Order: sequence, then structure tokens, then C-alpha cells
Amino acid sequence: MGVDSRTDSVPHHVAIVMDGNGRWAQQRMLPRLAGHRQGLDKLREVVRWSIEAGVRVLTVFAFSSENWRRPADEVSGLMGLLARALDREVPELLRAGVRLHFPGDRQALAATLRRSLEAAEAQTASNDRLVLNVCFNYGGRWDIVQAAQALAQRGEPITEASLSASLVLAHVPDPDLVIRTGCEQRISNFLIWQMAYSELYFSDALWPAFSREAYFQALDDYARRQRRFGRTAEQVASARQETV
Ligand code: IPE
Ligand code: IPE
Ligand code: MG
Repeated sequence: MGVDSRTDSVPHHVAIVMDGNGRWAQQRMLPRLAGHRQGLDKLREVVRWSIEAGVRVLTVFAFSSENWRRPADEVSGLMGLLARALDREVPELLRAGVRLHFPGDRQALAATLRRSLEAAEAQTASNDRLVLNVCFNYGGRWDIVQAAQALAQRGEPITEASLSASLVLAHVPDPDLVIRTGCEQRISNFLIWQMAYSELYFSDALWPAFSREAYFQALDDYARRQRRFGRTAEQVASARQETV
């Protein structure tokens, strides 16, 4: 039980709802897309800080199933930003040992973008320093439905284990720590299945302004928590002693 119930000081898997790009830009009288551009710069930094801290999996929410409801120019701006980021960032990510995945519904994306996502995944497939999941056109409900449909199509029984194994994040363990920036305290259809027992952390910083100090503060906060998974505090403490 040791590994399960103890907050190892560094979370293996950190997931982040990168929220606040639009407000960051509006506060500076800039177009919202300028905020998204700064948000991408921030992601580059957070990848570096994660490697530095010893985090092994970083999952970020970049575009939700519901973000299609935004004005068409913002949606196309975000698509363009992803396409350009893929061209520009992959060589550096390769050098840094980052393995890319793009969990989400790709059917709705342009064929050229889809091909670039697949190419970036293939190019970085042998890296193992950090797994970076960029959730794009992702929704937690979509994920559960597609998993259930896949099992039903194959005529397989639906159990917790089989459903988990059919989700788009089946290649990584559940997130230990979920951070949301941007002052909002909600999940917005992010990893609703996978975060059943994640520790939650809300930061008031708008994503482009999220600092190294703020990130390490979140990691520090996590290290001081006790994860109980339904047990009592005493059970967790004694299980921990046995493993030391
Ligand atoms: C998060 O920033 C990025 C995306 C949803 C694509 P927002 O664009 O939601 O920023 P706010 O919440 O409007 O400030
Ligand atoms: C969540 O942010 C989605 C991403 C960060 C990609 P939103 O800004 O879309 O969330 P709501 O609409 O405020 O809940
Ligand atoms: Mg938002």
C-alpha cells in the first residue's frame, strides 16, 4: 500500500488547466490571441521546470470540446498556433527528451493538422524523460463515451479496469496533482474520470503570468498533503512506517 497512500514528495503526474490567457491579454489591451501566444511561451517554461523538478508526466488542457463555442477567429487562431508550435517546438522537445501525445477527438480537426500531430508523436516516441500530453479537442465526457463505445463494439465487459484502459490517457497513471490557474475553481470537463483521487490546487495567477515560484509552491503544497484513498489517517501513517 505504501506507494499508493504516501504523498511522494514529487508528483509523478501533474495535470494543468491552463486558464487565463484571454484575461491576461485584455488587461493589456491586447487581442485574446496575444494571450494564447504568451500562454504557449509559458508552457515551454513549465515543461522545463517539470523536468527540473523530476515530474515524469505533464498533461495540459489546450483546447476543450466546448471551446468550439468561441468566436470563429479565436478558434482558427488557436488551431494556427498549434500548427506553428508543432513546426517550431519539436526539435527542442526531441533534444530535451520529451515524448508528445495529443489526447482528444481528432476527427474534427483539419487533415493537415491531424497529420502533423501524428508526425510529432511518431518523431518523439522513443523519448522517456517527460511525457507531455497536450489535450486538444478533449473533453472528459467525450473520453468516457468513446471508451465505452470501443468496449461495446468489441463486445468486451465494461469494468473499471477495462474502461480505464480504453481512455485516451491509458498510457499514463492517473494525475497526482491537478493545477488550475486563472482564478476559477472548476474542472470544465477536464480529466473527470482520471482525477477521482487527484490532489487539486487552484492558483490565482493568469496562465501567461504563472511563475516558476508559483509552480514550485504548488509542488510544495502537494508534498505536504496526506493522500488517504478512503482509509483513515492512522492507517495511512502506519502503512507508511512499514514501508520505510
Ligand atoms: C485558456 O485561456 C486557454 C483556452 C481555453 C484555449 P482562456 O482563453 O480561457 O482565458 P480567459 O479565461 O478568457 O481569461
Ligand atoms: C478550460 O478553460 C479549457 C482550457 C484551458 C483549454 P475554459 O476557459 O474553456 O473554461 P470555462 O469555460 O471558463 O469553464
Ligand atoms: Mg478561460
